[in-house]
Amino acid sequence: MKYVPTYWGGDKLACPSCYEEDYDDHVEMYNEYLKTHIVQPFTEAGIKCIGEYEQPKPKTIKIKIKKPAKKSEPKKIKIKIKKPTISVKPFAISHSNLISIHSKMNCVFKNKDLTIYENDYRDVIDKIKFDYIITDPPYNIKYKYNNYKDDLSETEYIDLLKPLAKYKVGMIHHIAPVIKYFCIPNKISPADNYAWCYNSNLGRQHRDCIFFNVKPNKKNVGMDYINKNDKRIIKRIAEGKQRQMTTFFTDINLIKNISEEKVKNFTNQIPIKLYERMIKLISKEGDTILDCFGGTGGLAIACKNLNRKCILIEPNHIDIIKQRLKISK
Ligand SMILES: C[S@@+](CC[C@H](N)C(=O)[O-])C[C@H]1O[C@@H](n2cnc3c(N)ncnc32)[C@H](O)[C@@H]1O
Repeated sequence: MKYVPTYWGGDKLACPSCYEEDYDDHVEMYNEYLKTHIVQPFTEAGIKCIGEYEQPKPKTIKIKIKKPAKKSEPKKIKIKIKKPTISVKPFAISHSNLISIHSKMNCVFKNKDLTIYENDYRDVIDKIKFDYIITDPPYNIKYKYNNYKDDLSETEYIDLLKPLAKYKVGMIHHIAPVIKYFCIPNKISPADNYAWCYNSNLGRQHRDCIFFNVKPNKKNVGMDYINKNDKRIIKRIAEGKQRQMTTFFTDINLIKNISEEKVKNFTNQIPIKLYERMIKLISKEGDTILDCFGGTGGLAIACKNLNRKCILIEPNHIDIIKQRLKISK
């Protein structure tokens, strides 16, 4: 006997992802998950109804040999093939089934604009709905984060980034390792690339904002002209071109220890302003943006500022996120 869950039974059960009793909010997301992960394999196999279903019995073949009336006549052979029958009895999925399906999802906060999961993002990403990902993954260069060891083997690092290849992603990283560990293994190329340039004593003075499966719209961002007194600039401004279109950002500083937005003891924090710029490049108000390497939760602040919904996934720094976003429970 195999069990195929119905989308939903009559009973009110707790949400499998956050265990809230009022589940209505989640029906759409949840049905989507059931459809692709549980129901689809059966419907693809030709089983239309959803419910408890009995394994079809193998085809049976009956052969009847009829004796001829006269010996001179040939024997008649009748073959009957009985098709297998599938009986399906719809039933409601039980609470324990739901919990086991979603047991890996640990939603630690949810309101209408923000959801936070304390998870490895790979256990969650294909069970949730969002429009874009904007994220700053670990660079695998032995950075010292609070609770994360940035020191994976090459294959582990490729595996870490791999699931992102099918989504619309804006990724903050350096282009060379991204080509090696993400583009080549997944046979994917960037749709566009912007440079975030900053003053620093470190070996590099820029990072890349690399977009996959989505083309950013330059018109949505722009920088102030450097020399507003230049005749040509005066003319451009008069023509309504108030800001300079650009593929690099030079007006966003690295977060220093003395920066107002600095979160104590966290390396490699991304400025809210950079998140905002990337959000504007690809999304519109009301969209949902996921940061699957949530870190200190900066994307949530940028999303709030720009009226976007946000989902954060972070396995190691939930306390930092809650503190930064002033979430009490
Ligand atoms: C570069 S940091 C992100 C910092 C973030 N941009 C900020 O400004 O706060 C990368 C984060 O990814 C998290 N991380 C590592 N592996 C992860 C995984 N498998 N799933 C989700 N997050 C992961 C780490 O704990 C770390 O906080």
